[in-house]
Amino acid sequence: MSEKMWQGRFEQPTDSLVEEYTASIHCDRRLYRYDIQGSIAHCRMLAECGILTHEEASQIVQSLGEILREIERGELLLDASQEDIHMAVEQRLMQKIGELGGKLHTARSRNDQIALDTRLFMRDVVLECRRLLLETVNILSGLAEKNLHIVMPGYTHLQHAQPVLLAHHLMAYAEMFLRDEERLAQCFDRINVLPLGSAALAGTTFPINMEMTAKALGFPRITRNSMDAVSDRDYLIEFCAASAILMMHISRLAEELVLWSTVEFGFVDISDAFCTGSSIMPQKKNPDVPELMRGKSARVYGNLMALLALVKNLPLTYNRDLQEDKEPAFDTADTVRQTLAVLNKMLPELRFNQDRMETAAAQGYALATEVADYLVRKGVPFRKAHYVVGQMVHHCEKLGKDLSDCSVEELKKFHKALDADLFAVLSLHSAVERRTSHGGTSPQRVREAIDAVRAETHARLERVHVDAPPAV
Ligand code: ARG
Repeated sequence: MSEKMWQGRFEQPTDSLVEEYTASIHCDRRLYRYDIQGSIAHCRMLAECGILTHEEASQIVQSLGEILREIERGELLLDASQEDIHMAVEQRLMQKIGELGGKLHTARSRNDQIALDTRLFMRDVVLECRRLLLETVNILSGLAEKNLHIVMPGYTHLQHAQPVLLAHHLMAYAEMFLRDEERLAQCFDRINVLPLGSAALAGTTFPINMEMTAKALGFPRITRNSMDAVSDRDYLIEFCAASAILMMHISRLAEELVLWSTVEFGFVDISDAFCTGSSIMPQKKNPDVPELMRGKSARVYGNLMALLALVKNLPLTYNRDLQEDKEPAFDTADTVRQTLAVLNKMLPELRFNQDRMETAAAQGYALATEVADYLVRKGVPFRKAHYVVGQMVHHCEKLGKDLSDCSVEELKKFHKALDADLFAVLSLHSAVERRTSHGGTSPQRVREAIDAVRAETHARLERVHVDAPPAV
């Protein structure tokens, strides 16, 4: 048990169980780099503003640099007696330079300090997630390009609906991930705001210059209200919300890969490197990676709920409850980064089975809409055509045959406009090729969509580059 920085007004030492209970260092220790980076910027600003002498500041800054290296080399023991990373660094500073170290905390508080640290942390996390997501989009575009002509069943209600291009299906996910990246980019702008200098809650009596600190740490904006600055956790909640939606998308893709890799579907082969075997059934190759992606989405949703519940009843401003924000936020950051990294390795290894997909696409009367559209082109109102083709399907189903197995005489019984030229439209490829409307599945439209998505991804990567703070 060590002497606390705030010991002054206390008669008794902290109970050891309480020390464990209130400590956050096991978790916030990973913020050490950001904490020290913030302290250095703060210290330099204090000197520029005449609050510390330049001599004092340079001693403090130099020692902070040493502490950073000590932590990096694992030389500094971080334990519960130090409560949190801020105290641990400050305590070490005092050990190194004595009383002078105590001047660093002038005009700030741990309340604005932790807000700063988590914003700096989140900035890096979000930038990395955006890069990873744009890579996912590029991989999907590449897969779509490579498999541009494979036709597969398009589903609604998981029933065969109309044939589509596999590339179109894949690019649907590219669109989702581009929206996710957009959400994260917007979230980034709200993370990227400096709170340091708000002090405990009310601002400070010292003539500080927050613009200077902001500039040093690469923040384009500064919080406007000190009370909001120390109690706001929107930036974590937004990240967790954007992550929950992103994981929902990954989970849907994962679900399709699980389904498509069954014997029943046989649409895709997931590389051995991303599957595991069974301890009892020798034949098994289980799609564990997509299953875990689906599973991990649940934790990410849970983390979002935990944060919303954490903040909802808190009076302004800082309350110690807020210390509980880090585990859900860090867990989300780790899960999302890891999931995206694994996804980006797994996707390029997928092998699609064209035969299985195209055989399946032809089944289940998936070309019925083609017959209806054919009749409409011959002047039959769509509703009437729909009814006629419904009867044809019913008839064929009873006889266990396909629409294209009908003779012209048989067709005529359903509608006089049906003729031998119908058979030309009863092909998967023509069904797909004729869907040329905007956003449709024709190869030409999908090709254009891939090009557009590639250009968009390129522009977004540029934006990530611009958003990245300068290295310090
Ligand atoms: N460890 C604290 C947290 O994570 C830092 C802020 C502590 N502030 C305080 N007044 N106890 O929230």
